[in-house]
Amino acid sequence: MSSYIPAGESGSADTVRDPRGFAIKFYTEEGNWDLTGNNTPIFFIRDAMLFPSFIHSQKRNPQTHMKDPDMVWDFWSLRPESLHQVSFLFSDRGLPDGFRHMNGYGSHTFKLVAADGEPVYCKFHLKTDQGIKNMSVEEADRLASTNPDYAIGDLFNAIANGNCPSWTFYIQVMTFEQAEKFQFNPFDLTKVWSHQEYPLIPVGKMVLNRNPVNYFAEVEQLAFDPSNMPPGIEASPDKMLQGRLFSYPDTHRHRLGANYLQIPVNCPFRARVANYQRDGPMCMFDNQGGAPNYYPNSFSAPETQPHFVESKFQVSADVHRYNSADEDNVTQVRAFYTQVLNEGERQRLCQNMAGALNGAQIFIQKRMVENLKAIHPDYGNRVQALLNKYSADAQETSTVHVYSRPGASAVAASSKM
Ligand code: HEM
Repeated sequence: MSSYIPAGESGSADTVRDPRGFAIKFYTEEGNWDLTGNNTPIFFIRDAMLFPSFIHSQKRNPQTHMKDPDMVWDFWSLRPESLHQVSFLFSDRGLPDGFRHMNGYGSHTFKLVAADGEPVYCKFHLKTDQGIKNMSVEEADRLASTNPDYAIGDLFNAIANGNCPSWTFYIQVMTFEQAEKFQFNPFDLTKVWSHQEYPLIPVGKMVLNRNPVNYFAEVEQLAFDPSNMPPGIEASPDKMLQGRLFSYPDTHRHRLGANYLQIPVNCPFRARVANYQRDGPMCMFDNQGGAPNYYPNSFSAPETQPHFVESKFQVSADVHRYNSADEDNVTQVRAFYTQVLNEGERQRLCQNMAGALNGAQIFIQKRMVENLKAIHPDYGNRVQALLNKYSADAQETSTVHVYSRPGASAVAASSKM
């Protein structure tokens, strides 16, 4: 039976089931571009307001300091928009064989703006040239105890030996007119754009040909920020992306200090930057000399440069907060289950999911199974059958849960779910 121990801290095993980050920094002459993505084209939620709750549910229970299946599955089963990503995660792709054999995705919808100011929407994809390769649950479990640094070691050694891994960079493009008529919300991060309707257009290649020399300076102090975008690349109205635009630099000021952009690995060293910020801990360089630190000023600018101004777009309709929980959470997951996966992959998905869901309380298991049945009866029924089997096996061997969250049983008892 496979367990699920998500959102590991630094030092936890590389081979546990979890999404992998995939972040790239481009040092362009017009400033840095950070594509801060994942190895999946979708995400668990579509509203940034839910991100802190989502992360809390994956991290340690603040009372017990243990990972808590009740928290994980309670949140997911209450937010069915997570079903697409959760299904992807418990499929074979949830255990990539190292970092070289997985794809990278910007995941969100972005904007590309031509020199004449004409914008289109786009998505970014990096497809591994090494081919997708996943691990069996047994191999991942074995490596977790014998070689927990498997993925970082595999990548480091490949580069050190000159076997440089590469990814082909593609974009998908959607015009504003197409977005108006799109069958889904084109800014919904829990959905993909069909590759038939919006084909992948190759635009380049990324090769990893050098390892960091000083891990702390170049990796630990690295700060990726989705709002780092040079002219021509802009954010779309995706609510998740909008939330990320300010969350990351907030974190960087806290994690690395106010002048984190002066740390060499974060510095937009190929661009000439002038702004009104001065001083602060670890302020290096010339502090912009005698240039004015306020705007407007009668001296030597810097002024806003038209080239860096965001493209214009029209909006109409009402703006308000609304709950987006029920925006078709099943169509694409059903296609994933019935058309993308083959029979063996479906079987493993159900086994992986049931093995992990088994750790949550029964009322949460039931709610999750109902959600799976809404995707496809076969999906829900298979997972339920496996849960029944685990439960019967446990009774036979008198296995008891070592830990069950005290507060959660009270909620279960009172909510009669
Ligand atoms: C509203 C949603 C989200 C919020 C508020 C959020 C916030 C954060 C924060 C605060 C960090 C730590 C940054 C640092 O210390 O440098 C982080 C790391 C990261 N996030 Fe997110 N995140 C969100 C969604 C996403 C999504 C959808 C993706 C992928 C498509 C993603 C990919 C990453 C990656 C790859 C890192 C690690 C970057 C690194 O290696 O330094 N996040 N996120």
